[in-house]
Amino acid sequence: MASTIVNAPYTVPSVKGFDTQNYVGLRLISSLRFNSGRTSISERSQRLLVVRASERHDGHLKKIEMSIEECEAAVVAGNVPEAPPVPPKPAAPVGTPVIQPLQLSRRPRRNRQSPALRASFQETSISPANFVYPLFIHEGQEDTPIGAMPGCYRLGWRHGLVEEVAKARDVGVNSIVLFPKVPDALKSPSGDEAYNDNGLVPRTIQLLKDKYPDLVIYTDVALDPYSSDGHDGIVREDGVIMNDETVHQLCKQAVSQARAGADVVSPSDMMDGRVGAIRAALDADGFHHVSIMSYSAKYASSFYGPFREALDSNPRFGDKKTYQMNPANYREALVEAHEDEAEGADILLVKPGLPYLDIIRLLRDRSALPIAAYQVSGEYSMIKAGGVLKMIDEERVMMESLMCLRRAGADIILTYFALQAARCLCGG
Ligand code: PBG
Repeated sequence: MASTIVNAPYTVPSVKGFDTQNYVGLRLISSLRFNSGRTSISERSQRLLVVRASERHDGHLKKIEMSIEECEAAVVAGNVPEAPPVPPKPAAPVGTPVIQPLQLSRRPRRNRQSPALRASFQETSISPANFVYPLFIHEGQEDTPIGAMPGCYRLGWRHGLVEEVAKARDVGVNSIVLFPKVPDALKSPSGDEAYNDNGLVPRTIQLLKDKYPDLVIYTDVALDPYSSDGHDGIVREDGVIMNDETVHQLCKQAVSQARAGADVVSPSDMMDGRVGAIRAALDADGFHHVSIMSYSAKYASSFYGPFREALDSNPRFGDKKTYQMNPANYREALVEAHEDEAEGADILLVKPGLPYLDIIRLLRDRSALPIAAYQVSGEYSMIKAGGVLKMIDEERVMMESLMCLRRAGADIILTYFALQAARCLCGG
């Protein structure tokens, strides 16, 4: 008897957690494959998690020698069959002190003493469905490695990208976020390329939606990849980042992305009032169904270094401290989050991730909206570097860091490890 509890396309439930291998009744049936409708995705597998009710014994019964009544009568008559002996108490090593046991009413280790018990009491779970895979794209045909992010590439939008998305979908990661490397010649002080409907991002969205209609596409809304100054907003002569003028551009950018088919537009610029303005602009153009994931608490962090190398988007001068938040601040995250929520954000994001777990927890406890965490480039590269240098176990640290982001309260995690971690969760 089998009952299907998960039957969504491309959902690969997590059956391999820290301790959760091979539990009775849980089996990942990966040999089942069937079409999902469109020919372009029909080769992809669907996986089902099947829970088997306790095995039926029909046909497997041993030859019956005694009836139940006879067995009971035997026991009543004092003829008790022998059970295997209780194993002897394991010996302690020589030199172990002989002591009186501590009088403890609570020994929390009792609940941790076997893999099955640990699995029973595991409070947090993680699955490929929780991941959003950030992908770097460029106009070229080849994939070029990103020096500061081992294992990451600027992907050719027509080839490498499409293959990478297919790989991710194969292990249940069906959400991506796009970051474009824009040719210098298309950059300008006002970042107008950001809303070119034939630009790299809209073109890529259209291509991906054509190939994978059910793929969830998040986009980044900010001017930095398009700004000749490398800032997220328009820079005035005296270096001031112009808020409202930038928001005007961001609205056009978001609408252009929505027009191309984006599912979730994600303002990462930290201008004031941009969520409300983008919501109004989307609605005015009929994109009521397009969500906004707001980078509510985005800190002016040095953990973004490798990303800026990837996109060649380092600010040409100054820093981003007049718009991104001070890493020393906690309460200020609430101000930002309340504002974004009131303006109509659908998802609140905290960035970076691991050094900012307290902020994730804060927003989780103070908002009913889904919370996203961004495990940023610097966090990724540190784990990769530690692994390459054999200082840490890369895979275990990767999985632990992602689990910790979930434990802190993140519903979804934007992570460059999405594919690697999903493969790991699928037992690959
Ligand atoms: C820019 C943007 C940045 C990241 C995502 N969007 C960099 C920045 O703010 O300078 C960083 C992501 C990462 O480091 O992985 N709007």
